[in-house]
Amino acid sequence: MSGNPLPPAHVAIIMDGNGRWAQSRGLPRSEGHLAGAEPVRVILKAAHRLGVKFLTLYAFSTENWARSIDEVDNLFALLTRYLDSETAELLASGVRLKGVGDLERLPKTTRLALAKAEELTAANQELTLSLALSYGSRAELTRAAQDLALKAKAGDLDPANLTEATLTSHLWTGGLPDVDLLIRTGGDQRISNFLLWHLAYAELYFTETLWPDFGEADFLAAVTDFQSRHRRFGRV
Ligand code: FPP
Repeated sequence: MSGNPLPPAHVAIIMDGNGRWAQSRGLPRSEGHLAGAEPVRVILKAAHRLGVKFLTLYAFSTENWARSIDEVDNLFALLTRYLDSETAELLASGVRLKGVGDLERLPKTTRLALAKAEELTAANQELTLSLALSYGSRAELTRAAQDLALKAKAGDLDPANLTEATLTSHLWTGGLPDVDLLIRTGGDQRISNFLLWHLAYAELYFTETLWPDFGEADFLAAVTDFQSRHRRFGRV
């Protein structure tokens, strides 16, 4: 049985384990998130080099709002700093940045930094880096269902003509294709409300490695594993 000679076009990553990485060193959780910014840079470069077209990172879930105010503030300060400091590099390297999620809930400074990065990199086409922020698939699907119901009620949509493409276009993740490879670091083997629609036929790869320790060699191992798999998409 042959595998996939091509690299995955769309890689999604659940970057888990920052807190445990910090706690095992006697450090506050915020240090784990800080350390987690480095693999983002490393994996983006590696993905770009391999020819990956879409990289989608779970940076903050709808459930993460329940964390302490300090941790949430700290994470958004870090994300804002990342956007401010990396946008020029993203622009120069052909990467388009997008935020996906309930972005209106984000702190204003993060929203502004995100809008600026999205606008500056809008014409880039080599790789789309999507940051899932205040993201949860169930909220995303519920919101899409509400939008579609309102359109149907207003007479702008005939329910009989509703297709998978119509639904997809109403998701926060609208333009994203199906995920080919999902990587989750940190040892847990679950999806945690991430990209439920797009993961329908994704290959799943779980590793014990905590996100701050996840390097280029780990990423290449995940891609090599993906390339050895026989994808059937429900066929024989
Ligand atoms: C999960 O680890 C990680 C997060 C909730 C935040 C992810 C954020 C980063 C990796 C920061 C850098 C990101 C960018 C885009 C610059 P956890 O805190 O749940 O870890 P634990 O399971 O060990 O507690």
